[in-house]
Formats: sequence, C-alpha cells, structure tokens
Amino acid sequence: MTSQSLNIKNPEFKQKTGLQEGDRKAIADALGVVLADTYMLFIKTQGVHWNIMGPAFVSVHELTAGQYQNMYEAIDEIAERIRALGHKAPASYTKYGALSSIRDEDEPKTVKDMLSMLISDHETVVADMRLAVESCESKNDFVTADMMIGRMAWHEEAIWMLNALNAD
Ligand SMILES: [Fe+2]
Repeated sequence: MTSQSLNIKNPEFKQKTGLQEGDRKAIADALGVVLADTYMLFIKTQGVHWNIMGPAFVSVHELTAGQYQNMYEAIDEIAERIRALGHKAPASYTKYGALSSIRDEDEPKTVKDMLSMLISDHETVVADMRLAVESCESKNDFVTADMMIGRMAWHEEAIWMLNALNAD
C-alpha cells in the first residue's frame, strides 16, 4: 500500500450501470436529505424513549425503542446506497441540520406533545422520501426507488402506531 493510497481526497467514483452521471448526483442529493431526516428523527425518537414519564411510559418506551432501532439500521442502508451511487454520504450533525426539514427540538412537555412531534416528523420524512422516489423513477433508478418505498411504508406504519397511542 503506497502513501498515496492512504491519502484519499475524493471518495466519489464513476460507474456504467445505465444511470446518467448527473442523475446519480441528483439522486444522491435527494438521499442526503432523507438520510439527514432519518438521523434527526432517530435522535428525537431516542429522546422520547428516554424522557417519557407517566402511565403511558411502558407503551411509549417500548414502541420508540423498536422505532429508533429500525431507523439506526436504515441510516446505514441509506448512506451506503449513496456510496453505491458513487457519491459521498454526509456524516456530520452540521450537515444534517442544514439538509433536514426536521426541526431540532427536544423540549416537548407532555406525552401528547412528544407523540405529536414524532408524528409530524415521520410525516416530514415520508414527504421528503416521496420527492426522492419521484426523482428516482424519472431517472430509472428503480433500486433506490424500491428502498425508499419500503422506508415510506415503514414510516406510515409508525405514524399509525403513534397516532393510536396518542388517541384520547
Ligand atoms: Fe433503551
């Protein structure tokens, strides 16, 4: 291994799989938003898991545990899809804050406020994923579209479960 091979300045690479270079970049950018959203919602879900109080503690604590664990796995899958498209995966809190549509807040006071915050954030993730799917399909990237559709289905189920817990 030469010293040059240890000094990688550009992690991006080209490929000839039928996707246009510019299209792969556009899809990677859309996935960067989805990655940032998922990371933000991951940490906010963990915050609810930790800080929940009251009679709903066990239900909310257990539901959010399964949800943040799912998103932890998804973060890796989404980032690695960006890499497979030949682009660099964003990996800093500053970048995630700039890319994500999700607000950085962890101070909801009541259980209802906590669950409403998560529901709204899941909705935001799904909306950004929908844009990513539209972009993927228009560019014939069915692999990323398939991944995004799977994630959307999971988030929509999460929205149902959080709404069921939040019902009066
Ligand atoms: Fe835990």
